[in-house]
Amino acid sequence: MYVWHPFTQMQTADEPLEIIRAEKTLLFTADHKTYIDCNSSWWVNVHGHGHPHIGQAISEQFSLIDHVIFAGATHPKAVELAERIISILPEKHFQKVFFSDNGSTAIEVALKMVFQFWYNKNQPKKRILALEGAYHGDTFGAMAIGQRGYFNAPFEHFFFDVDQLEFPTIEIESRLLIQAEELFKTGEFAAIIVEPLIQGSAGMRTYSSKWLEKIVVLARKYNVLVIFDEVMTAWGRTGKLFAMNHMTELPDIVCLSKGLTGGVLPLGLTISTDEIYDAFLSDEKTKALLHGHSFTGNALACAAACASLDLFEREETWERITSLCKSNLEFSKTLENHPKIEEIRLCGTILAIELKSVDGNTYFSGIRDIAYRYFLENGLLIRPLGNVIFINPPYCITDMELELIYEKITQFLTTNF
Ligand SMILES: Cc1ncc(COP(=O)(O)O)c(C=O)c1O
Repeated sequence: MYVWHPFTQMQTADEPLEIIRAEKTLLFTADHKTYIDCNSSWWVNVHGHGHPHIGQAISEQFSLIDHVIFAGATHPKAVELAERIISILPEKHFQKVFFSDNGSTAIEVALKMVFQFWYNKNQPKKRILALEGAYHGDTFGAMAIGQRGYFNAPFEHFFFDVDQLEFPTIEIESRLLIQAEELFKTGEFAAIIVEPLIQGSAGMRTYSSKWLEKIVVLARKYNVLVIFDEVMTAWGRTGKLFAMNHMTELPDIVCLSKGLTGGVLPLGLTISTDEIYDAFLSDEKTKALLHGHSFTGNALACAAACASLDLFEREETWERITSLCKSNLEFSKTLENHPKIEEIRLCGTILAIELKSVDGNTYFSGIRDIAYRYFLENGLLIRPLGNVIFINPPYCITDMELELIYEKITQFLTTNF
């Protein structure tokens, strides 16, 4: 009665599910129903709910330090997390880790880093290049670089200018590279930001890693910084630990969140090279990155993240990821040429099915509510992105649960939506 839910038209929305317990892939409600959490609770809960190893790490950390101010003080779990993150990112390319609270704040920090990087060098550059369809979060900077439209129309007037490149489908890849080069040549671009390999909120749209590598090379040629928003793509989602593991060309900044803590506590990281960090070193205090949040470097979240990294070191986690990728691939083959499907998109552990829709491909497609309710009635929590249904379940999902999901999706396709 007093709660205002996110992304929800409170006047018309169905009653929310009242979840009273969560374990592994399952959510249990007050009215004794059980749902499989097919989207890992907004794509965060990678190891499943209530993982004992993460729980124990949080509890042990609580007995030592719950939270401590992170300016003028530090603590061992933040140091451990930073060291471990740098060591698992490619080639020791990244050197510095800045902590914040979630995906959007990780992006805000990245934007402030790139703008101030050029400002501190007395070469202020004000333009950012982003991809059409991008989603980088709901704070102002993150909205400004995201796809403009009904989600952010009330605020558009307040956004800084952003140049947008069309989504790189194979047919237009070369033209976009020429266009990007023309823009970069102006010398006005501070950075380019992308969700590498797959755009999440745009409907799990995939694009080529080779194209992305080419644009990174171009950016480097014209001194444009590159930000990878790996908030959604990290932590095994694309089949490798990070999406950038599919590439040899690397960004200057990477943003992480969501599955970072195994999805149990909010935490964001913005990770940069030494080249960026060095531009903030000065005798002048105002050249510092004057940014921080009360919960920056929260010790419980850092402990959860370290415990999640332990789980990624276990072979069984990667066996599950590999098996999930394979099962999704096999299932997708059974749907080939389906008359109700516009396109099937596979990226590692993510399977997305774009349904043919009279409203076109839109978040507010009428199919969305029909599909959402159908799956709930069948024990699955799947939140479609408009006419795109997708699954990215926790890695502990069992073969039986996966079979059930596939069966229900197949059945849904036989209904009159
Ligand atoms: C690619 C990407 N970036 C940033 C965000 C924002 O993260 P948060 O919701 O934690 O603010 C999201 C959230 O879905 C995302 O998918």
